[in-house]
Amino acid sequence: MGGLGKTTLVKKVYDDTAVKKQFQNHAWITVSQNFQFNIIIKDLIQQLYNEIKQPIPPQVESMNVIMLSEFVKDFLRERRYILVLDDMWSIDAWEAIKCVLPDCNTASSVVLTTRIADVASASCLGSLDFVYKMKPLSDKESWTLFCNRTFQSNDCPPNLEEVSKKIMKKCEGLPLAIVAMGGLLALKDKGKTDEWEIILRGFGSEADGSGKFDKIRKVLFLSYNDLPHNLKSCLLYLSIYPENYSIIVDDILVKWIALGFVEGKEGMTSTDIAMKYLKGLINRSLIQAQQIREDGKLQRCGVHDFLREVIISKSKRTKLHNHSHWILHRMA
Ligand SMILES: Nc1ncnc2c1ncn2[C@@H]1O[C@H](COP(=O)(O)OP(=O)(O)O)[C@@H](O)[C@H]1O
Ligand SMILES: [Mg+2]
Repeated sequence: MGGLGKTTLVKKVYDDTAVKKQFQNHAWITVSQNFQFNIIIKDLIQQLYNEIKQPIPPQVESMNVIMLSEFVKDFLRERRYILVLDDMWSIDAWEAIKCVLPDCNTASSVVLTTRIADVASASCLGSLDFVYKMKPLSDKESWTLFCNRTFQSNDCPPNLEEVSKKIMKKCEGLPLAIVAMGGLLALKDKGKTDEWEIILRGFGSEADGSGKFDKIRKVLFLSYNDLPHNLKSCLLYLSIYPENYSIIVDDILVKWIALGFVEGKEGMTSTDIAMKYLKGLINRSLIQAQQIREDGKLQRCGVHDFLREVIISKSKRTKLHNHSHWILHRMA
């Protein structure tokens, strides 16, 4: 299931200094549905060489897939490494990547996330005890996360408690749904209970789509619908990027401005306003901040693939999808 917090959990472990110290080499590969072996292998080589601060040997460019695999295998053979393979969709993809990893290197770790139980068990060398099945958050955990996101505290105002608990239940313990809902509700007036009731009614009756996937789509649609007009265009535009794409912040700001999504305001540059839009979308948890420089500047961001599906379906309806493809192509 997407949106459960798999990537978040593994990232926390991967970034932990105590964990980092145990390995000489570190690499994070986002695999995703659109698996292309040679792109992944080149990305891996790039990360391994970046870390040792050496240029990639020039012969790599002309290597075929078999040579690339041998090259990585040789590199990793004597090293203690941690490799994260995030969002693996097929056993075939795992089998292909497994071939580049040296045998008998037991001091190293490969951590894999997947939505598919068969991929998890097939990738376990040895014992199935290595599979950790993520569960939705309990009611208590959901409530804590909900309150933190919505009220920036562990407490909920008494007038909103009943409606908030009902909304929280609709999120089915899925962190993605809870943070998106919390991001939306945080902007609502805490004194106007009826506005909160309207949002609850937006979920419809229990009979409209009962699967978890329907629920999360509902949450994301509601969050999208609540956006001001300009932010809607900005978000829809992100549907042109491939799944799991890491978007360069400076690029996206320029594109939003060029496309006329950014409304001028006295005393502020267009870039400042565009950045304000981006922060607004991040606050609502519709865009995820991915890479922040040491001085605090946001460099890369991304969209969860569930939200990407929602915005693709919306942008197809508004015909922005095809139009934007053309513009991106022209600007490239
Ligand atoms: N334990 C958690 N506490 C708070 N937020 C979380 C937690 N787990 C996930 N999230 C948020 O939920 C969203 C989806 O999580 P993610 O790890 O991308 O899910 P998955 O990889 O399972 O699809 C992200 O915006 C993340 O910040
Ligand atoms: Mg993920």
